[in-house]
Amino acid sequence: MNKLILALTLVFLVLVQSDEKIQKALELGRDASNKLVDSVKSVLFQELGKGGYVGAIKACSNIAQDIIKTYQEKHGFYIRRVSEKYRNKLDKPDDYELKILRKLDELNKKGELPQEYYEVVEENGVRYLRYFKPLIVQPMCLNCHGSDEFLKKEIKEFLKEKYPDDKAVGYKAGDFRGAVSIKIKLSEDLLKN
Ligand code: HEC
Repeated sequence: MNKLILALTLVFLVLVQSDEKIQKALELGRDASNKLVDSVKSVLFQELGKGGYVGAIKACSNIAQDIIKTYQEKHGFYIRRVSEKYRNKLDKPDDYELKILRKLDELNKKGELPQEYYEVVEENGVRYLRYFKPLIVQPMCLNCHGSDEFLKKEIKEFLKEKYPDDKAVGYKAGDFRGAVSIKIKLSEDLLKN
């Protein structure tokens, strides 16, 4: 039985790998998710350099969604950050994303988190690549996403005012925080450029 599953998985993987559109979409997904993560990070570090975490959180809260919007417009496909314990309601995962986030969280707990995760899905006869880039909590993230003792008074006050329903605190370093979620239509247009 296990061998059959393995064989079927391999056949599936070969089919997936051989599809040129999927490869192209994967390249786009990797590139966009890396750039999104880098842009948010560079704003974070720039602001940290200027005025510490209080200045940074004020800047981040406004800039993150702008950066995401710019990427959506620039790439013309669905791209955003999602988390089960989200801070901004705009980052609330849909049912499909929630299922994948929980799976990635489980893999992270087992120490088996992949660098990226993707699936090809079909909706109304149209195929899409769903691409996820996992995001892990690092020690510096705790200043704004950690448990109570890591959060400065000003940060707490800011969070309470701007995000009264904030779920994105109480994390530990190494926790699975969420993912960049991308959805790219697998159309002929992809191969044109
Ligand atoms: C200076 C404070 C600050 C630091 C440090 C920080 N974040 Fe955030 N983070 C925020 C704010 C504010 C938001 C909400 C942004 C918005 O409104 O779009 C956020 C949102 C997010 C989101 C989007 C999902 C959600 O909850 O809305 C992810 C994912 C995320 N942060 C991951 C991280 C990771 C990983 C690190 C460490 C590398 C980190 N953050 C460090 C302030 C911070």
